Amino acid sequence: MPKMKDFTAYHNGEWKPWSDVKIDPLDLGFVLGDTVFETLRTFNGKPLIWKEHIERIYRSLKYTRMNCGLNPEEMYSMLVEGINKNKNLLKECGDFNIWLQISRGTSMDGPPTIFAQYKPVPFDTFTDWYRDGAHVVFAKTKSHSFQTIDPKIKHSSRMNFVLAQLETKDIDPNALTALTDLDGHVTEGTSFNIMTVKDGVIKTPTDSNILQGVSRDVVIRLAKNLGLEILEENIQPYDLVTADEVFLSRTTPGIVPVSKVDNVDIEGEIPGPITQKLLAAYGELVGFDLMDQAFSYENVEHEDLISTLNHRHKKK
Ligand SMILES: Cc1ncc(COP(=O)(O)O)c(C=O)c1O
Repeated sequence: MPKMKDFTAYHNGEWKPWSDVKIDPLDLGFVLGDTVFETLRTFNGKPLIWKEHIERIYRSLKYTRMNCGLNPEEMYSMLVEGINKNKNLLKECGDFNIWLQISRGTSMDGPPTIFAQYKPVPFDTFTDWYRDGAHVVFAKTKSHSFQTIDPKIKHSSRMNFVLAQLETKDIDPNALTALTDLDGHVTEGTSFNIMTVKDGVIKTPTDSNILQGVSRDVVIRLAKNLGLEILEENIQPYDLVTADEVFLSRTTPGIVPVSKVDNVDIEGEIPGPITQKLLAAYGELVGFDLMDQAFSYENVEHEDLISTLNHRHKKK
């Protein structure tokens, strides 16, 4: 498996070896968490479902009043160029995860720091979820509300997520962390959106206090195309624990089935029948079966550079 130093990254207008990227210690991204970001992935090396990520980061930039100096078309071309710059590593990786981070720079007036890094998709971290279902635990720490830092911004001020994950770890070291808002309604996980299925109806929280997940939108679209009923409404942890199926959506794995919520089993087949239908439709959309691809790369180790925000769920 390629090491991070083998990858070429984009940093403020230049392509360079990943290890040559030096971020200024005075960068407000580091000092204040004043950063917006996106995590994209390639699908069989192709830039699929990228328009939605680009639109979202430009909404994040607009709301946080940052000007990155590139227009959306230039941003798209730059990100595609990175696939070409790293194409010699594609076969070994299977696919790339791309982290695009933009900070305000070293002063409130910029200039901004733009950093796009390419990495292997960490298939080994999610094959067990596809196979056995992920565990989800609700933390006491709350999601931000749209009245504090609007969670629609994909920003890096994520101390609440880190604290929530530490709490979760005390309960179940393998669990992913889910949160609620100040009224107790389910919001999202630290890196995924949440869906339940009960009596054939899919429910997902409204977008008032969550990140508007790109894969959440894909799932909503696919469900509608399949003629499935899908509702965006307030749900509580109770609705997950008593659901027929629970699943998560996130760009890298697409859809992740859940087998336990707060240590209570979700009964039945994993993935459940509706989750399976949606996974199949996701596969059709991107042109291959996401689970098959992950299984074929699961024994490939990668450097553990992806943050604490994604609990590892690795076989020991
Ligand atoms: C807080 C949060 N919610 C939801 C998601 C899922 O978003 P997407 O489907 O765009 O990957 C992410 C992705 O990292 C996230 O960080």
